Amino acid sequence: MQVRLEDPIDLDAFRRHARQLLAAGVPPDHVEWHDGSAPGGAADLFGEAGGDAPLPPAAGAARHPVPASFIALCADVILHRDAQRFALLYRLLWRLAHEPGLRHDPIDADMMQAQLMAKAVHRDIHKMRAFVRFTRVAGSDAEQEQAGERHVAWFEPDHRIVEANAPFFARRFAQMRWAILTPERCVEWDGQALSFRDGADRREKPPPDAGEQLWLTYYENIFNPARLKLATMRREMPRRYWHNLPEAALIQPLAEAAGARSQSMIDAPATPARRIRAPLLLNPLPGGGVAPADLGELRAAAHACRACPIGAFATQAVCGEGPLGAGHMLVGEQPGDQEDLAGRPFVGPAGQLLDRAMAQLGWARDSVYLANAVKHFKYELRGKRRIHKTAGQREAEACAHWLDSEISLVRPKALVALGATAARALLGRPVAVQAERGAWLNERGDGLPVFVTLHPSALLRLPDEQRGEAHALWLADLARAMAAPAIIEGS
Ligand code: URA
Repeated sequence: MQVRLEDPIDLDAFRRHARQLLAAGVPPDHVEWHDGSAPGGAADLFGEAGGDAPLPPAAGAARHPVPASFIALCADVILHRDAQRFALLYRLLWRLAHEPGLRHDPIDADMMQAQLMAKAVHRDIHKMRAFVRFTRVAGSDAEQEQAGERHVAWFEPDHRIVEANAPFFARRFAQMRWAILTPERCVEWDGQALSFRDGADRREKPPPDAGEQLWLTYYENIFNPARLKLATMRREMPRRYWHNLPEAALIQPLAEAAGARSQSMIDAPATPARRIRAPLLLNPLPGGGVAPADLGELRAAAHACRACPIGAFATQAVCGEGPLGAGHMLVGEQPGDQEDLAGRPFVGPAGQLLDRAMAQLGWARDSVYLANAVKHFKYELRGKRRIHKTAGQREAEACAHWLDSEISLVRPKALVALGATAARALLGRPVAVQAERGAWLNERGDGLPVFVTLHPSALLRLPDEQRGEAHALWLADLARAMAAPAIIEGS
């Protein structure tokens, strides 16, 4: 019996055929499985005379329920490149139906082989997430104007994981237009939907861009010679990935110099603790500089700011947006991952929660000015993921004069602090948000009243059972802030 699957990763087609074969009582050693991925195409495999035989009629259509874990195992194993995977899975299915003890046998050779294959697929999925490196590619001016920049990466997975992994990249790089090219399958994200096409040629790999240099500089700077563990590095970053990883070229020279660098770190005298002391509210401009004349200048200057280390690793500074002279300026903590990529405040999950709350209150987002206390995204890299890290007090202080400049350029009538970082930046003192939320505070030298409430991320972090009540209280706070009767009328 020959079974031909057109698509090498079509789990539904495999299940359909396997179910029919099992119901018809066809034993595994009577079946040859083929998929459309063989070089030269399926026609060469079967020749003229060897076409698929029709399935024998189902013998009494017996039902053979299998554990859900077996279906999950099939979904992984089918992505493995081994040509015998379908034969193995059908053999297991047959045996599960005929050997009730199999599901409880932890050392069965077939089961172990399938589990090892699933593990290899998982590892490959993980490595793709960690080692895909995007390069910015220039399109025509018209294309760029219409759809923005495009990023392209070249990757060579061991297994057929592109489709399975694509949703991860779509979530992670939702705001970008990107494509991942691989020799067998390519995936593209246009900002709305994923699309797939046949594999690409290695020569389509884009040439390095300026971002690559930045990444190498970053890599070199975070390389800690005293923590070098070559065996772990080799295990986590196997050699076969190196030729597509720009940073791989740095590893050998950095590793060779690590011993000497560690020794000189040990020999060097201790660095005196540095303090960036910028008294809040006075916030002198760096180097006695001149305040930006308008928001455009503010944006450019904040973008270039390196008064603290965060700016060097962020995509861009994210200044506020909204009308000049707005009734309220709402101040958050710092841009998150999505804000950093989009260059706009409050567009990620916390921003969406704030949008929904304001819409519920009939408070138009475009009537307020939305800003952040810290202008650059601070994060920690975990694999390819950028995990938000709260800015430290020194970083917030180094950034405070940008917020002051923004307030004096926008001239809002009232300030709303979302969370502790914003409250501290606006009031110049530590603020216990839960204790001081919900009331207008008049302590600022410039006379602007400040209202303190929770940051929307605090609600997102709450367990489900606490979120409903906390959200209702937060809405009540926002309603009070929105009304701000005496403040706005009296101004
Ligand atoms: N959190 C903030 O504080 N600001 C943003 O812009 C987004 C998330």
